[in-house]
Amino acid sequence: MVDESVPAVFERVLPLLAPPPEHPEFRAGYLDLLGAQGEKSSGPIQSLWESGMGSAAYDHLQSFARRVLPWFQLPASARPPTGGRVLDVGCGPGNVTAQLGRAVGLSGLAIGIDVSPPMLARAARAETSDSVGFIRADARRLPFADATFDLVTSIAALQLIPEPHRVLAGMTRVLAPGGRLAVMVPTPRGGLLNQATKLIGDRSGLSFFDATEVAESLQAAGAATVHTHRTGPTLWITARRAA
Ligand SMILES: C[S@@+](CC[C@H](N)C(=O)[O-])C[C@H]1O[C@@H](n2cnc3c(N)ncnc32)[C@H](O)[C@@H]1O
Repeated sequence: MVDESVPAVFERVLPLLAPPPEHPEFRAGYLDLLGAQGEKSSGPIQSLWESGMGSAAYDHLQSFARRVLPWFQLPASARPPTGGRVLDVGCGPGNVTAQLGRAVGLSGLAIGIDVSPPMLARAARAETSDSVGFIRADARRLPFADATFDLVTSIAALQLIPEPHRVLAGMTRVLAPGGRLAVMVPTPRGGLLNQATKLIGDRSGLSFFDATEVAESLQAAGAATVHTHRTGPTLWITARRAA
């Protein structure tokens, strides 16, 4: 069923889309650019995030995790400018997108994209505002013109997406000159653990990353400075596009 009510924020979001959709379709408060063409899930964990129960469980879990686990917090370098434009890739229930929306203020814009309809429905219901909006789109084909955003974030999503280096290149492409990127991926460490996680990764559709590999990929895509930082079971990657 197509929801005809269109949140006001989309008056500012639609002009940023490239190519512009001929007949934009809104469902449950988000813009759906995939419709029935959404691809099949990349593995059992992603299937969970695409289910109603899985997305509800994740939403409760992340809210608790963000209160107690420091490595879930955005780094200080990911603070967007007031009035800036921010893209949150793999936004899930939209909490980080909303946090970024508050940081840019009413003159700014924070857009969350995800492939999961139940995650987006939760995000749109709880977090849509005049400066925060949500789109169903695939991170491998970011539907925006080059140099659109001052900040691009992606928290705990890249490991789920096939062709992660294509995603990193796309995120760099949509950054404005001087714009910043902040990406977090779960990254277990240790020799034996690495072997085990490789096996788990192969069966679960998850990818695990080496800091150097990610840094090289971002540099090849046009990022000027790249920093990587391991904290707990996560790898944070921050980068800046040349001004
Ligand atoms: C573990 S959740 C993280 C959500 C959110 N970033 C957070 O920190 O709470 C990962 C999200 O990535 C999304 N995702 C997976 N593959 C994707 C793709 N190809 N394009 C966009 N989002 C994707 C999933 O649907 C899921 O909502």
